[in-house]
Amino acid sequence: MATALKIVPPEDKVTSFVSRTHQMLIHGKWTEAVSGKTFPTYNPATGEVLARVAEGDRADIDLAVKAARTAFDSGPWRKLTPSERGRMIWKLADLIEENLEELAELETLDNGKPLKIARAADVPLAVDLFRYMAGWATKIEGTTIPISVAYTPGVQYLAYTLREPVGVVGQIIPWNFPLLMAAWKLGPALATGCTVVLKPAEQTPLSCLRLGELIQEAGFPDGVVNIVPGYGETAGAALAAHPNVDKVAFTGSTEVGKLILQAAAGNLKKVSLELGGKSPNVVFADVDLDAAISGAASAIFFNHGQCCCAGSRLYVEDKIFDKVVEGVSEQARKINVGSGFDSSTDMGPLVSEEQLNRVCGYLESGFSEGAKAVVGGGRHGDKGYFVKPTVLVNTNEKMKVVREEIFGPVVTAIPFSDPDDLTVQANDTVYGLAAGIWTRDIKKAHRLAGQLRAGTVWINCYNIFDAALPFGGYKQSGWGREMGKDALEMYTEVKAVCSAM
Ligand code: NAI
Ligand code: MG
Repeated sequence: MATALKIVPPEDKVTSFVSRTHQMLIHGKWTEAVSGKTFPTYNPATGEVLARVAEGDRADIDLAVKAARTAFDSGPWRKLTPSERGRMIWKLADLIEENLEELAELETLDNGKPLKIARAADVPLAVDLFRYMAGWATKIEGTTIPISVAYTPGVQYLAYTLREPVGVVGQIIPWNFPLLMAAWKLGPALATGCTVVLKPAEQTPLSCLRLGELIQEAGFPDGVVNIVPGYGETAGAALAAHPNVDKVAFTGSTEVGKLILQAAAGNLKKVSLELGGKSPNVVFADVDLDAAISGAASAIFFNHGQCCCAGSRLYVEDKIFDKVVEGVSEQARKINVGSGFDSSTDMGPLVSEEQLNRVCGYLESGFSEGAKAVVGGGRHGDKGYFVKPTVLVNTNEKMKVVREEIFGPVVTAIPFSDPDDLTVQANDTVYGLAAGIWTRDIKKAHRLAGQLRAGTVWINCYNIFDAALPFGGYKQSGWGREMGKDALEMYTEVKAVCSAM
């Protein structure tokens, strides 16, 4: 499958960054963990330790929250004009763009994704997100509201609302798009004037730590963004439960999302959650077949299937089922699996040994229940965490491979004949993050788009993201929306001010 082409070595700048001591950023200072402990981050293409990073825990989270609290309550941050705040966010976008190559290589080293993808998607999307949010800093507006108070006859009032920052925000992000997920979280928090404690995923802390340096270079006051790497059960749990945090924003598994909710109950902090998915991708027989086949393949194989919105349940109208399955399988066969630094690589390793075992475990469970792999079906090679792109058929709606999020390059292809049954089947999931529809019939497309219980519906396209387009889940795929104007609501409180005249 993979042909060994020239491996592009990481830039010197990147090598020297990786080999440094990796500390945490608290109140503008890079520091060791209070415990002095460090943890390893691995190169998933080789399984070798890439770097050791300061391991944050409860004591470090305490210090970081204190810093964020001080920065919010009495630092210079709140005194900046919206325009100054916006310019600072824009400057950060410029700095990310200037360091695009270095950040892309860090993503490839730490996460495994192909360098060409990190260069074309992860880093530019992060730049664009910050630019989009920079524009919002000057547009966080309230309204004036005419009121009629029956029990104070004759008194006139001026009533208006203010949108104020929610305060200190704890942000916990995953490893599938490390830098981009940091941008999705930080962008709206900074635009609205909040302060932040960010915990990157333990699998991929490096690009976030580099981002921390760029945040300092952009001139954000100390304590506005604090970055505490560490494990979920320790640092993450302490952040979610912290009594001085006003809001927690989480992206990751639905299982941990529920833990975050429980942890947040102590001080009833606001919660936003962007969780798992098992998104249906529906192909009707009247479709442009080539477009649907490439669309269905990239819907599941992009980022090695490690996308919360991956089109992992492929429903195909029975008349063209065999053609589409063969087409998607053919595309899967053509995917070069290998090191992200190899310019011919289309798909790198999964992020960790844990994910490798999880995905292979799902495949075994599918096979034991009667599913068949048209292509792929297991690990690729014996070094690193690679899995072959896989198309499963002979599945049914009771199987784990159809019901649960696999988070790997595995799609289950399922035929349908009756569009009404299809709608019921497509919605038969605890998740509701995304869906795809492929047809030339626009009426059919928009009717189904209305019926699908999902936060995003793509018609004749898939995985189309934009900083202006809200993204988030129905049902157990989450609470609230990331990106777009909607994201600002999760970072602001509304204050009603009423004045007698
Ligand atoms: P996870 O949900 O455990 O990790 C995501 C983040 O949450 C990480 O920063 C982690 O350190 C933190 N975390 C873990 N336990 C925590 C706790 N008790 N309190 C606070 N923070 C905690 O996800 P994991 O184990 O890396 O992957 C497992 C599955 O989760 C994947 O197979 C996939 O199905 C799903 N997932 C979904 C993502 C999405 O984009 N919605 C991203 C990553 C994983
Ligand atoms: Mg790593």
